[in-house]
Amino acid sequence: LMAKFVGKSKLNAAVFISGRGSNLRSLINYSKKKLSPIKIVLVVSSNKEAQGLNYAKMNNIKNIVVIYKNIPKAEKKLLDTLVKYKIQLICLAGFMKILSKKFLLKFKGQILNIHPSLLPNYKGLHTHKRVIENKEKFTGCTVHLVNSCLDSGKIILQKKIKILRKDNENSLTKKVLKLEHQLYPKAIVKFLSNR
Ligand code: GAR
Repeated sequence: LMAKFVGKSKLNAAVFISGRGSNLRSLINYSKKKLSPIKIVLVVSSNKEAQGLNYAKMNNIKNIVVIYKNIPKAEKKLLDTLVKYKIQLICLAGFMKILSKKFLLKFKGQILNIHPSLLPNYKGLHTHKRVIENKEKFTGCTVHLVNSCLDSGKIILQKKIKILRKDNENSLTKKVLKLEHQLYPKAIVKFLSNR
């Protein structure tokens, strides 16, 4: 898969976050590899206190905070910045805001999201809690294309793990997060190879 990208210039990617930013950290580490097909040139946070902003700063990546009080205004600022930095791929990574249809149309087929469940099961929030309550045997994470229905776009890649009897919400959160860090870079490579 990787061979396809050798010698090609890297795509400009933006990562959108709202909090901890552990997926952002993993994507930054990945993007630094010689064979990575992407270069992270912009980090967008919907929250000025997001811990993840520190990873952007530590790596000298341009970062902006977009406050979602006035949505049209927020998206205008977003779009202007994405154009300015010639963004070709957007990776949502724990971004807790909904992008408008108008915004999605401008980046059709160029926005990926990671979700901590085996979609189409467990869309929305508190996935691990619901998975445990329902005594599921498996869980995992999914990278998918973003469309205008929440957590419903075309699935790019999934990773599945078995739930143990001793697992609880906390242990699953940790295990799945670790899987997410492996899955997102792989999904990006797969997505870009099939385009
Ligand atoms: C991740 O588990 C991600 O899958 C989830 O938020 C967490 C962000 O963690 N995203 C969603 O639930 C989106 N609906 P991170 O900030 O450490 O990457």
